Amino acid sequence: MDNMETIIEKLMSVDGSERLSLQVVSLIGVGGIGKTTLAQLTYNDVRVQEYFELKFWICVSHSIDTAEIAKGILKGACPRGGQLDSMLESLKEMISERKFILVLDNVWEVNLSQWDTLKNILRFGCHGSKILLTTRNKRVARMLDCLQEDIQDIGVLPDEDCWQILSSIAFFGRREPERAKLWDTGKCIASTCDGLPLAARVLGILLRFKSSLEEWKNVMTNEIWELHDAEVDLYPHLHCFSYCGIFPKDSYIMVDTLIQCCMALGYLGSDKGDGSMELRGREYFNSLTMLSFFQVEEADGKVHMVERGKLPRGKKEDKY
Ligand SMILES: Nc1ncnc2c1ncn2[C@@H]1O[C@H](COP(=O)(O)OP(=O)(O)OP(=O)(O)O)[C@@H](O)[C@H]1O
Ligand SMILES: [Mg+2]
Repeated sequence: MDNMETIIEKLMSVDGSERLSLQVVSLIGVGGIGKTTLAQLTYNDVRVQEYFELKFWICVSHSIDTAEIAKGILKGACPRGGQLDSMLESLKEMISERKFILVLDNVWEVNLSQWDTLKNILRFGCHGSKILLTTRNKRVARMLDCLQEDIQDIGVLPDEDCWQILSSIAFFGRREPERAKLWDTGKCIASTCDGLPLAARVLGILLRFKSSLEEWKNVMTNEIWELHDAEVDLYPHLHCFSYCGIFPKDSYIMVDTLIQCCMALGYLGSDKGDGSMELRGREYFNSLTMLSFFQVEEADGKVHMVERGKLPRGKKEDKY
């Protein structure tokens, strides 16, 4: 929350003449640490929503592409034909003299000529307009004209916070005596998350489907991939989730296609020809969606791959 207040303060400040007219504020940190989550909380904060006249969120997930960003901002107002010049002209018209916030989420690389083109248009916005950037790479933030003082390095969470995340998922639906029995082991497991909320969530899901203390202790003492190989049946959700790692982050895939791929790989059990595999696939998928591992575009059944960060104890990522 401290991070959030600092960011909000930076976003809502208009200061000195020495500042660039368009201030870039960056959230940096390793994958899965919570940059996008923090950016979302900040962006949705009522103070921020009221302060800026125009608000745009663009999921970049690769290099800055001026045309893509312009298209994303203009949406329905995008001129026919989509010529870059006319898009930039429309963008200029849209933001001129208006205070905007533009979130560029997950920027991996910078193409400086694209950035210069974009920046030259964005400068037409009202003084006080801001760009909020999330990236794993500090160099990217600096290349996008973010001053050192506007770079917020998202630190890892304390073990206690990881435990909160893990236990809120793993303890769901369990009664107090059962919780008490698993508590100490659970806390030890949370301390292996290296302060990463993503790791805490994945372990929480894993533990949610394990009932005995022995099983929990097994998770504590084994690497996930070892368990994964040995006890495939116990990890159906994680199996499907790990499979999603082959899709680029922020790409889209049809839910049905995803389920069929998991079926073909044997992650959904054996086929009895009665449609139960599909049902199981949908059930796993719904659980993962409920836990925010995916976003679903309800209208057309597409899955938005929002996760590909560091997985728990991710020293052997190739196993995923
Ligand atoms: N403070 C938090 N409390 C609980 N869950 C969190 C917190 N921060 C992040 N998460 C969860 O952790 C996961 C990873 O978060 P997020 O996507 O924000 O990471 P990221 O730093 O943007 O990763 P990447 O570099 O891969 O884009 C998400 O499932 C998110 O819901
Ligand atoms: Mg992110």
